[in-house]
Amino acid sequence: MFEARSIAAGSKPEFYRELAGQLEALLMGESDPIANAANTSALLFQMMPDLNWAGFYIMRSGELVLGPFQGKPACVRIPVGRGVCGAAVAQRKSMLVEDVHAFPGHIACDAASRSELVVPLIGRDSVIGVIDLDSPSPARFDADDQAGIERIAAIWLAACGEGVKAALARAS
Ligand code: SME
Repeated sequence: MFEARSIAAGSKPEFYRELAGQLEALLMGESDPIANAANTSALLFQMMPDLNWAGFYIMRSGELVLGPFQGKPACVRIPVGRGVCGAAVAQRKSMLVEDVHAFPGHIACDAASRSELVVPLIGRDSVIGVIDLDSPSPARFDADDQAGIERIAAIWLAACGEGVKAALARAS
């Protein structure tokens, strides 16, 4: 049984080093992308303070489709280029949004959300999805959070292996 250990880190980089270690242990020996996305969402939501949503959107037939997550029920399909998630795919880069109300086209799945961090999952040759985090606090996320979640995305991609895109396509 995996038991998430509470993290008493003094700084955000320390927090994310510890979180990354726990995620590596949690995903070790498992390559199923959906199972790994489910456990990654659960770990993020349990361990990170001040979140109201943590989860995955997966690219299917050219649009983002809701994947495993923790939080309130969310919108299912997001076209590339729409909202914060679609922007992360279109621009192939992480989106750090201090105030979602000021982001043109932000898609409000939970009215409580005030800030957001979206990190694209970039496979061998294309974006295969995103990790999306929402917070009820304005400016909850900073560059340390972005670097930390980019490391979390890399661990998920490595655990799922080179076949992740094919595995997701088979599941669609
Ligand atoms: N706010 C996102 C939509 C997904 S929910 O936050 C879970 C966006 O603008 O793309």
